[in-house]
Amino acid sequence: MTKTILRALAGETLATPPIWMMRQAGRYLPEYKATRAQAGDFLSLCYNPELAAEVTLQPIRRYGFDAAILFADILLLPQALGADLWFVTGEGPRLSTITCQAELDNLGPVDDIDATLSPIYETVKILSRELPADTTLIGFAGAPWTVATYMIGGQGTPDQAPAHALKSENRPVFEALLDKITEGTIHYLSKQIDAGAEVIKIFDSWAGSLQGADFEKYAVAPAARITAALKARHPGVPVIAFARGAGERYAGLHSATGADCIALDDGVTPGWAAQAVQVDGCVQGNLASHHMVTGGDDLVRETRTICDAFANGPHIFNLGHGITPDANPDNVQLMIDTVRNGG
Ligand code: CP3
Repeated sequence: MTKTILRALAGETLATPPIWMMRQAGRYLPEYKATRAQAGDFLSLCYNPELAAEVTLQPIRRYGFDAAILFADILLLPQALGADLWFVTGEGPRLSTITCQAELDNLGPVDDIDATLSPIYETVKILSRELPADTTLIGFAGAPWTVATYMIGGQGTPDQAPAHALKSENRPVFEALLDKITEGTIHYLSKQIDAGAEVIKIFDSWAGSLQGADFEKYAVAPAARITAALKARHPGVPVIAFARGAGERYAGLHSATGADCIALDDGVTPGWAAQAVQVDGCVQGNLASHHMVTGGDDLVRETRTICDAFANGPHIFNLGHGITPDANPDNVQLMIDTVRNGG
């Protein structure tokens, strides 16, 4: 087992942490924008295996990251379950909403999702053929709570208020929706592994808005269920869990979720996380994305602080959240040089 990402995920402490970046294929790269224009729009790009594989490979060619993440989106699963999905340029995703039993009943069966998602499996197959031998292929899905916030609200919401409202006003429908997404996610991720994904990442981007017992029930428990199901079917395929905004609740998440690696956002300091989270296993993160816009000495200093704090345990270097479209591609190179050569 020589791939550095797999070594870190197996618990090995490496002299130089392997590195990849959330949203590494994206609008900050001119070559991404060109391929997206060729595809027509974002969803056409996601469902075109040749072009989706091409944009997945672009940041690997440009920067030589240690991992490639499948180019797709967490909202393709709701679409495969029967929700309408479209993207409004400059604003983001829109979906038909699920707010009652009747709307939930309108969704299709989990067994039917492959009819929509088979091009994604094809992208994974192309990538496992074309990626360099030392690059790890990461498959992914959204966590049930995060996916549900979009399905209930019909769009991104700053506080996830519609999902919190359904949770308190009609808990049976809310829980049935979460169950359905959980089952669909297990199926979807299992198929990605069958097609060649070597690692799975579960994105719970809105986990931080779940309070008290809700965090355990709707963030931790579904992640644990998905991880256990994948590990039963595909022993040896590591899982990275990202519970953005978890704060102090990052502590203990390795054992609570069964994930091999906990991805950290930049809301926690690396010094704290090394003691509270990395003691239990591999961590990923957690440079603030704004450094990819601002660059300079701050970027170098923060990158070194993170590498130093996590140097005594398994660590995968990454941002704390996705890179933004206004980032400067040169700053990505500076981050990589700093991680690999000290800057
Ligand atoms: O990381 C990667 O390079 C792989 C591809 C990937 C995308 N989205 C491509 C994308 C991944 C892993 C995602 C995950 C995703 N999608 C999340 C979880 C991670 C996170 O960022 O919190 C969420 C919440 C979504 C839903 C989503 N997709 C939103 C809210 C938006 C609009 C906001 C935006 O950045 O435009 C998207 C669109 C999207 N997904 C883009 C990309 C490259 C931009 C679309 C475009 O090209 O116009």
